[in-house]
Amino acid sequence: MSGVNVAIIGTGLVGSAFVRQLQAVQKKSPGVFNVILVARSKATYVSKDYSPLSLDSYSTGSSDLLNIEQIAAYLEKSPKPVILVDNTSNEDWANSYPLFLSKSISVATPNKKAFSSSLDLWKKVFGASNGPKGGLVYHEATVGAGLPVLGPLNDLVATGDEIVKIDGIVSGTLSYIFNEFSTIEGSTVKFSDVVKKAKSLGYTEPDPRDDLNGLDVARKVTILARLSGLPVESPTSFPVDSLIPKPLESAASADEFLEKLPEYDGELDKLRQEAQAENKVLRFVGKVDIAAGAVKVGIEKYDASHPFASLKGSDNVISIQSERYASPLIIQGAGAGAEVTAAGVLADVFKIEQRLRK
Ligand SMILES: NC(=O)c1ccc[n+]([C@@H]2O[C@H](COP(=O)([O-])OP(=O)(O)OC[C@H]3O[C@@H](n4cnc5c(N)ncnc54)[C@H](OP(=O)(O)O)[C@@H]3O)[C@@H](O)[C@H]2O)c1
Repeated sequence: MSGVNVAIIGTGLVGSAFVRQLQAVQKKSPGVFNVILVARSKATYVSKDYSPLSLDSYSTGSSDLLNIEQIAAYLEKSPKPVILVDNTSNEDWANSYPLFLSKSISVATPNKKAFSSSLDLWKKVFGASNGPKGGLVYHEATVGAGLPVLGPLNDLVATGDEIVKIDGIVSGTLSYIFNEFSTIEGSTVKFSDVVKKAKSLGYTEPDPRDDLNGLDVARKVTILARLSGLPVESPTSFPVDSLIPKPLESAASADEFLEKLPEYDGELDKLRQEAQAENKVLRFVGKVDIAAGAVKVGIEKYDASHPFASLKGSDNVISIQSERYASPLIIQGAGAGAEVTAAGVLADVFKIEQRLRK
């Protein structure tokens, strides 16, 4: 039997880019990736007889609203192997991966939740995948979006290399903010003004505090640490420096937060001046030190000659230092954006299809 069936959950920014890219692939290689279900938060489009849905017109057909268990039961009966593509950031979906994987349904996703929440969920996900009827699970786009980070890291570990340290600028938003705020040439722009500009360019979450609290970085660092062999308990089990001034944590709205943020520019300005005096720049980094068993997230100073200092725009950069390589492996490039993220997910779907091919 050739080809796989695909169930797509979420057609937002990444999901709709994924659908477009999959359409192009279907034109080149018909019959390999057959979409049998597309779900949004309030509608599920299902092919009751498992024949392929047209990606041009599925949403004009009738829809139901199936819950996760109903979708799992439907996919379990598929006559072809199934890949579930979760393009949401939904926690219930993340919690359900063990259920799907235990039914031989493979998972490809950019959703960080299953891999960066409790260690217990992580163990359940990989336990189910390694179980007797286990599906495959790929989540390259959970760190660095479409950049190849987790694949190479997994390869290093699988071939017996020892990871020593990983340092990374893994938030596109905080990369942009610090690349603007602290430059090799020296900068005087106010932190609050950079945050406002980042928001106006659409680089931040609707409430920038969701970026500035460091949790997104902590989640990505949790994934990097766990894949390197450090069983991190949760993204809140190690030190994470928040960039939100304490009194503004309780600001009622994003607007109120942005209005009051200038009152707190002094502290970061002082830090930047100290760094500049040493010919250094500030960057917001996640750090994993395997030997020391230490993980942390926060502001670090880097020499002007360091690769992190010359980063531009909202790029991500990840430095992996291992026993086998004399100098660190540096992976750098666009670490956010729907198109590159969707491409990362689609590449995972390709890998799963190749491994399922009989
Ligand atoms: N955007 C990026 O640059 C980027 C980069 C790396 C990783 N990611 C990750 O990619 C994922 C998707 O991001 P996005 O920017 O595409 O988000 P988004 O635009 O908010 O889209 C989310 C989609 O998920 C659907 N959804 C939410 N809850 C659902 C549920 N319970 N059942 C079915 N569908 C549900 C939404 O349905 P409705 O259409 O009905 O609202 C929507 O289609 C997230 O995990 C994000 O962290 C994104």
